[in-house]
Amino acid sequence: MKVLNTLEDWLSARDQLRGTLGFVPTMGALHPGHLSLVRRAMVENDRVAVSIFVNPTQFGPGEDFKRYPRPLQADLHQLAVRAPADVVFVPRVEDIYPPGFASRVRVEGMGDVLEGASRPGHFEGVATVVARLFTLVRPDRAYFGQKDGQQVAVIRRMAADLFPQVEIVTCPTLREKDGLAMSSRNQYLKPDELHAAPVLFRALELARTAFASGQREAQVLRQRMQHVVEAEPLARLDYVSVADPDTLAELDVVEGRAMASLAVRLGTTRLIDNILLED
Ligand code: PAF
Repeated sequence: MKVLNTLEDWLSARDQLRGTLGFVPTMGALHPGHLSLVRRAMVENDRVAVSIFVNPTQFGPGEDFKRYPRPLQADLHQLAVRAPADVVFVPRVEDIYPPGFASRVRVEGMGDVLEGASRPGHFEGVATVVARLFTLVRPDRAYFGQKDGQQVAVIRRMAADLFPQVEIVTCPTLREKDGLAMSSRNQYLKPDELHAAPVLFRALELARTAFASGQREAQVLRQRMQHVVEAEPLARLDYVSVADPDTLAELDVVEGRAMASLAVRLGTTRLIDNILLED
């Protein structure tokens, strides 16, 4: 497993890679969910590249950019032992955003709702860094977790518009035994918050059960989820949504597929989760 720390080294390593290339972009602090993306990419491609880059442009002013975990040596060790990619690109900020870099990628209409409503500019930062990485990495397939359902929708749209040659592969959310979706931010939770955190999954499970028994009124599904979260004293609900998974438009009635999602604050940590509802 080669580790490349500069753009120059990366570009010459890229030229040596033959066959199809699968790409897993990450911000590090790797957990089993990331490793499952790398393993899937290894099955489906001749070569696999992983990037580790904590992207400053997707964090708002009051957000956790500075305290975001950066256990680089542990990440490289995990990859080497448990999901050995061919190449790992760990760029410096100036490799991704060289002096004078002034372009931004904005996916109209999809970046301002849900997560985007409380994190202005977040999806512009995500779309910009993913576009820049796609240009440098030139992958055939790129792998993302369904855990960040809105991110998946934004990147799918962006890739269809700007990188039609890149296939976007979405992989299932990995969960702890109690249902909590794996996330690098779970490590911020205090013990009592960690204990309360599966409330997101319980809410989604209730929506799934109601949907399975024939409930198609989106507002009823939202209310069911809301009640579950309100019953947990440590949790503060940010939003619940039942939306079209491709356009993120809120639904009145679910016909076909829907993404049920929610964001909840536990102390200073904000958690998100979603499931797909389909017949
Ligand atoms: O999901 C993430 O870790 C990040 O948003 C991504 C896609 C690597 C872009 O920085």
